[in-house]
Amino acid sequence: MPEKTTHFGYKDVTPEEKTQKVGKVFDAVAGNYDIMNDVMSLGLHRVWKRYFVHIANVRPHHQILDLAAGTGDITALLAPKLSGKGAITMCDPNAAMLEQGRQRLIDRGLFKHIYYAQAKAESLPFEENHFDRVTLAFGLRNFTDKGRALRAIFNLIKPGGQLLILEFSKPKKWMRGFYDTYSFKLLPQMGKMIAKDAESYQYLAESIRKHPDQETLQFMLEAAGFEQCNFINLNGGIVSIHRGHKLTA
Ligand SMILES: C[S@@+](CC[C@H](N)C(=O)[O-])C[C@H]1O[C@@H](n2cnc3c(N)ncnc32)[C@H](O)[C@@H]1O
Repeated sequence: MPEKTTHFGYKDVTPEEKTQKVGKVFDAVAGNYDIMNDVMSLGLHRVWKRYFVHIANVRPHHQILDLAAGTGDITALLAPKLSGKGAITMCDPNAAMLEQGRQRLIDRGLFKHIYYAQAKAESLPFEENHFDRVTLAFGLRNFTDKGRALRAIFNLIKPGGQLLILEFSKPKKWMRGFYDTYSFKLLPQMGKMIAKDAESYQYLAESIRKHPDQETLQFMLEAAGFEQCNFINLNGGIVSIHRGHKLTA
């Protein structure tokens, strides 16, 4: 059953409003997305993404879905692991983000075995039991219906395949004071100064607070059918990596 209301940051909105508002945020940030990631995370997002791709344990011949792929950071890190055998589908509903990603990958000579799909996680246009890995980095908290999306992803994964999620999470108590000041005061200021857009970065801070904590997300993966689920905290839980396996069809 679709949810009757959901959250857009701290606001209660209908699912349709959330989809529309999230679309507007990423339309607005697409041009500055990469530079803002470096500035806001002090470059840490690169380390998190490298580690995420390392533990995804991708091998030649794998079929990979990079969901909420945005400007393609994860696809770019995954591509060399295939050694030219297999395929990565970069999927995102936002045309502006996907186009930025496509241009960046082409500039870096990455175009073989990479496909593009413009679609939402809640209604994915792919064959069931097809992918060896689905990667989802910093996308899940923007989804309108997370439960439905996780079930849809489960259906697309082959038995023996895995879902890997990299997402902001709940930091340990000792760093919450600093983290709150950073995300609610500094982030919107940086958004205003650099991207001329404080609102989108206010949404970023709020959406992180509304996102399920580590244990709740693990429970959601299990409810969607995933088995042998676990998570790793990075930097005191600022972000976490969740993994779920699909063992049988
Ligand atoms: C913060 S960006 C992450 C991009 C990239 N994965 C990265 O780590 O840099 C979040 C992406 O989620 C996408 N997104 C938002 N709602 C979505 C949905 N319902 N299904 C799939 N992707 C969605 C946005 O368009 C955006 O490109």
